Amino acid sequence: MHLPDFKVARSSDKKDYKKINYQIDSKYLNKYKGKKCFLKTYGCQMNEHDSENIKGILELLGYTFTNEMQEADLVLLNTCSIRENAHNKAFGLLGRAKHLKETKKELVIGLCGCMAQEEIIVKTIMEKYSFVNFIIGTHNFYELPEILSKTDKEKQQIEVYSREKDLIEQLPVDRNSKYKAYVNIIFGCDKFCTYCIVPYTRGRQRSREKEDIIKEVEDLIKQGYMEVTLLGQNVNAYGKDLYDNYSLAELLEDIAKTNIPRIRFMTSHPWDFNDKMIEVIAKYPNIMPSIHLPVQSGSNRILKLMGRRYTKEEYLTLFHKMKELIPNCTISTDIIVGFPNETKEDFNETLKLVEECKYDNAFTFIYSPRVGTPASKLEDNISKEEKEERLYKLNELVNKYFKENNDKLVGKIVPVLVEGISDKKNEYFGYSDTNKLINFKGDNVKLGSIVNVLIKEAKTWSLDGEIYN
Ligand code: SAH
Ligand code: SF4
Ligand code: F3S
Repeated sequence: MHLPDFKVARSSDKKDYKKINYQIDSKYLNKYKGKKCFLKTYGCQMNEHDSENIKGILELLGYTFTNEMQEADLVLLNTCSIRENAHNKAFGLLGRAKHLKETKKELVIGLCGCMAQEEIIVKTIMEKYSFVNFIIGTHNFYELPEILSKTDKEKQQIEVYSREKDLIEQLPVDRNSKYKAYVNIIFGCDKFCTYCIVPYTRGRQRSREKEDIIKEVEDLIKQGYMEVTLLGQNVNAYGKDLYDNYSLAELLEDIAKTNIPRIRFMTSHPWDFNDKMIEVIAKYPNIMPSIHLPVQSGSNRILKLMGRRYTKEEYLTLFHKMKELIPNCTISTDIIVGFPNETKEDFNETLKLVEECKYDNAFTFIYSPRVGTPASKLEDNISKEEKEERLYKLNELVNKYFKENNDKLVGKIVPVLVEGISDKKNEYFGYSDTNKLINFKGDNVKLGSIVNVLIKEAKTWSLDGEIYN
């Protein structure tokens, strides 16, 4: 049994990790043929991609997948810790799974993902959720075959490592889309923003070797993929732990040269975003002009308390440089309201910053204290009503700019990667180069192709149009 430990997660000693090519022991192949798995994913794109790998592994074991929990032999929750409501949702589902197990004794229930890395969660599950068969962490989910083979009814298995283990290449994968693929470039995060649990649940920053990333993109091209999204909690730190002169800028350039039609990347921390990266994004038409640049707050006092390492002024300089140098660039953001000690004036500074940036998209959150993070020791001293009111006000403002920005596209022709057919006849949907959701009319449009769409109408979160030949 290995239990998570935040002290170890926080420790700064550099771990020596090895690169290992995944290989499944042949004795596990098809061991569970005929069994069904209900896999539920709660988190960010990185968690979604982990689930794609988990699916790949379970398929080698012989599992198929079901959307009905009642049909499942294995219920697996790939969890998220970022805010309390993510916890609550997972515990809600565990409650339902417990109920099911009362009549289906042989049901196996497992928990993986970020919650598995939290001391307090594992303690709760050990004490109150004895029906959970196993907990497996983010650093070793690929050990699922071994864990499953050791599962028995009585003994709960907990295999969670507090720090990153080896870097595993060539994991099996079953991707959710045939046209768009996630590609990890860097794992973990070294920023330790004071409110955030991610560095504890995902370990220290470690980059994949550039050759492995480029090879993965080349393979995806061969399989017909049209778009890759390079993933990491902070993609702009790519390479820092591996190379002297090779950063996200060089990686983006090398991937652009593979000629994959579309490249996106997320998430960017403003601190590591340099001019060379902006130049490369501006230079290559297959790097999409759409950047997610979380600001979190418009108040320098709060930014400092959050440990974000930039001032509002530095953020704005970077923001305007991107807008100026990258043609047609849209920028989205993340904002937290109600951080401890955030005054009305601090909040107004955030509103002022939004008025200046007029974001194309924004994810807005009420601060949620995470046990074990430095911010959780500050008094959470803003009332629930006040936090909700600030969120409401902020949302009204961001929505206004979403719509205003979308209005500017009416009458324009935009390139759209066609992803699916909507319920209505002859209607399709996909995303534009600038990452806007477009619903459009057309005849016999090929899924997975990039087509031109004439925009007819703007809404707050999407645009309507028709194919333009
Ligand atoms: N690596 C990314 C963010 C990952 S988490 C970055 O640094 O920007 C996604 C978003 O969740 C964050 O940008 C932040 O806005 C929000 N978030 C993180 N921790 C939070 C917390 N404790 N309470 C509320 N929102 C939080
Ligand atoms: Fe969390 Fe900050 Fe790292 Fe983003 S950069 S994952 S907010 S610690
Ligand atoms: Fe959640 Fe973990 Fe992602 S906490 S946001 S699933 S890295």
